[in-house]
Amino acid sequence: MITALRGMKDIFPTQNKKFVYILKNMTAIARKYGFEFVQTPILEETALFIRSVGESSDIVGKEMYRFKDKGDNDICLRPEGTAGVVRAFIEKKYDRQGGIYRFYYYGPMFRYERPQKGRFRQFHQFGAESFGVKSYFEDANMILMIKEILDFFDISYVLKLNSLGCGECMSPYKKELVKFLQKIENSLCQDCKRRKDTNPIRVFDCKNENCQNFLQEAPRLNNNLCEDCDTHFKSLLELLDKKEIKYEIDPNLVRGLDYYNKSAFEFISGDLGAQNAVAGGGRYDKLVSYLGAKETPAIGFAIGIERLMEMVKEPKSQREGYYFGALCDEALTPLFLEAAKVRKTDKAIVSYDVKSLKAHLKASDKANAKYCAVIGEDELAKNEIWIKDLLNKTEKTKSIG
Ligand code: HAM
Repeated sequence: MITALRGMKDIFPTQNKKFVYILKNMTAIARKYGFEFVQTPILEETALFIRSVGESSDIVGKEMYRFKDKGDNDICLRPEGTAGVVRAFIEKKYDRQGGIYRFYYYGPMFRYERPQKGRFRQFHQFGAESFGVKSYFEDANMILMIKEILDFFDISYVLKLNSLGCGECMSPYKKELVKFLQKIENSLCQDCKRRKDTNPIRVFDCKNENCQNFLQEAPRLNNNLCEDCDTHFKSLLELLDKKEIKYEIDPNLVRGLDYYNKSAFEFISGDLGAQNAVAGGGRYDKLVSYLGAKETPAIGFAIGIERLMEMVKEPKSQREGYYFGALCDEALTPLFLEAAKVRKTDKAIVSYDVKSLKAHLKASDKANAKYCAVIGEDELAKNEIWIKDLLNKTEKTKSIG
């Protein structure tokens, strides 16, 4: 028997109801904040992710679905949404036009990770990217938007914040960190030894308890920010305080993608288990220029839809539309034609099996219909249809034709 690939799931109508409910409401919130829908391809050139997410990241180093297509192009399934949106932004020449652009998107992402609860190889993200605003106000705006989404679904979380600085403060900081890491090198795990040479700040992301103990004495970037980054971070915190948004500053929060600078954040939920990040994001002011276009400040985030689905309570399903059932063979055609009429304004499903009234009522209940409409020999003789309102428990007949 052929089964779905490991770490990939089918989403059946029962779960899709929740999926659509989540999407509909996230979309409405994003639109309130001025974001518009963008769609980019699921396949991109591998080079895009190597350059943006970064060669030293686990995503690029270990987790990409990467292959050659028939034209010998090195391509991969997108592991995340930001890089594609930035590529599209540049290709459309928005960087040269200037101004502010705000996009939201959703869709499947692919990472060849070890599947576990809350971690899949194909999963869905809802993301938003904002281009053209340098101010910390936009950082606060993004955080506010995620908070509004999570509050809407009644999800509890902790907001973790950090500043990843910029080229000016990060370069001297990295040198200081490497010096420190060299001193404790023998105590570090193999991955951290490698990280020391590829991207030293990633050591803070290490899940090895022993490494974390040794890193407690490590120099921290948030104590070494340049004036511009320090002001940006402090102004953001002040604004969040004014809006009474609770947060924790987490100097270990370095994010698993290379493109970030200044503000980085994650929303963590205690209800999720080991994979507890429901949303993550941050600023990436240099990515547009790094990919060859005009420097454009940018910030974004993505929410994991599957992780959200774990926590969102099922919306109460409401009865809707018509169920049409025939009590005799001759009723099928008039029933079919009546259903087509109803469908102009309402939902209508038709059962093609001739059954008893009792059986049709049972089936319409199962289909969660609001009305059960049937035609039998009596109705045919009078050119009528019998309709039961399954919500109000009332009955009526209506002429057809
Ligand atoms: P990320 O932190 O890698 O960021 O992913 C965002 C969210 O996607 C996570 O918080 C989590 O909820 C969900 N997620 C990630 N991997 C998996 C997985 N294997 N299975 C299930 N859910 C997962 C990004 O992807 C950035 N592009 C976010 C961003 C947008 N930064 C700036 N703009």
